Amino acid sequence: MPHFIPIERWYRFQWNQEAFLISFMPKQKCLLPLEMIMHSTEMNSSMKEEKEKLSYPKENIKILLLEGIHPTAVENFNEHHYTNVETHDVAWSEEELLERIGDVHIIGVRSKTHITQTVIEKASKLKAIGCFCIGTNQVDLDAATKAGITVFNSPYSNTRSVAELVIAESIMLMRRIPMRDKKAHQGIWLKDAKHSYEVRGKKMGIIGYGHIGSQVSVLAENLGFDVHYYDIEPKLPMGNATRESTLEDLLEISDIITLHVPATDQTDLMMDAGKLAQMKEGSILLNLSRGSVVDIKALRNAIDSGHLSGAGIDVYPEEPESKGEPFSSALQNASNVILTPHIGGSTIEAQYNIGLDVSTKLIQLIDNGTTVGSFSVPPLNLPVQKDAHRILHIHDNKPGVLSEINRRLSDMDINVLGQYLKTNEQIGYVVLDIDKKHGDKVLDEMNSVKHTIRTRILY
Ligand code: NAI
Repeated sequence: MPHFIPIERWYRFQWNQEAFLISFMPKQKCLLPLEMIMHSTEMNSSMKEEKEKLSYPKENIKILLLEGIHPTAVENFNEHHYTNVETHDVAWSEEELLERIGDVHIIGVRSKTHITQTVIEKASKLKAIGCFCIGTNQVDLDAATKAGITVFNSPYSNTRSVAELVIAESIMLMRRIPMRDKKAHQGIWLKDAKHSYEVRGKKMGIIGYGHIGSQVSVLAENLGFDVHYYDIEPKLPMGNATRESTLEDLLEISDIITLHVPATDQTDLMMDAGKLAQMKEGSILLNLSRGSVVDIKALRNAIDSGHLSGAGIDVYPEEPESKGEPFSSALQNASNVILTPHIGGSTIEAQYNIGLDVSTKLIQLIDNGTTVGSFSVPPLNLPVQKDAHRILHIHDNKPGVLSEINRRLSDMDINVLGQYLKTNEQIGYVVLDIDKKHGDKVLDEMNSVKHTIRTRILY
């Protein structure tokens, strides 16, 4: 029987009287007679050199995931050999974080754990923060940026979930189901067709034709809606949708208006009393975007007066901090109004997608330095590292840093195989692919460049 004896990353392989050394490193798939290797001093020194240049072991990278992040994240990390993953179902307070953050390389949170400046200052090993949710409000982005810590989130993983609820509410409200449902629960048999309509052939007006708006467009058209939209950007139509050049045009013709805009100064109370009055008589308003976009009191008046026949609202100007807290709205008990507690994007599928999306971004960052989707370190999409050592250099965005880096490389007469750069207002991110012989030397040099925040080398 052959048997294997590990010799560092090489394995000694014995078969009958013959002995071989075999390497399982991807780039060194070879099988050599032991004698040949043992008698070759050159090979011995290259083996030694290889050992010295191994990247930080993945199993030593400590990943802390809080707030019951979907298990798909852990599975993804494990599949990529990041096995040192600690998970907790609850949010942590600042005190708990301060106590435990010291040896953490990557932290994953949802919306309730606040990563403050104090936490960031204590997190000496932290390389990245994964927000396994839509926003990044819970992170002090300024502090993270100054510390060169990469922050990711997952803004589009729940697009489909929101779009499906828009379609469902459109049908429910066109059939006046909220009222009939309530009556049936009260034992009242309201069997008639009064004010009940199919959605087929009706005009769906979408405001904001981004990720969610365009997905609503596709689903609505498949149901038979005549889809129209308005966006401040020149967005191309999906399917047979029609672009309207003004918001007023869209409001006047639509049987249902659905809002899918971000919260900006421009969208703040964009649906005020005046705009609601411009909506078609008997039409319906849906807001599953942001609470600041609709004047809720004006909407209540428009419904009570019969100008609008219904509304579906998922987001509010003021929302309770957490589940189970009391909630009040001027729309409560209004006729043909569906109120939901900001759950447009809350589905198991969305949680799964968020887990996969954010963990993939974190893995790519640690594996090859890619920062696409980052809110702090400038976003760089890096190619696969080939036959080179990769040096990642994050620095304050001050004049002269890049020329200093290039001057030093030129003084060292270093062959740079690839150089990538991106800056934002605060910091710069330079990535250098360097001939393997010089990686460590260049890293030392880069560490001493003025305004350096942090560096890392990938072997
Ligand atoms: P997105 O960024 O992909 O699309 C937004 C679109 O709105 C862009 O095309 C933009 O050009 C357009 N826009 C911006 N200002 C406008 C204006 N004044 N008038 C017309 N169009 C304007 O965003 P996405 O992913 O489609 O999300 C849309 C909204 O939905 C966001 O506010 C987001 O926070 C919210 N959302 C709500 C969820 C929920 O649970 N209810 C879940 C996910 C997102």
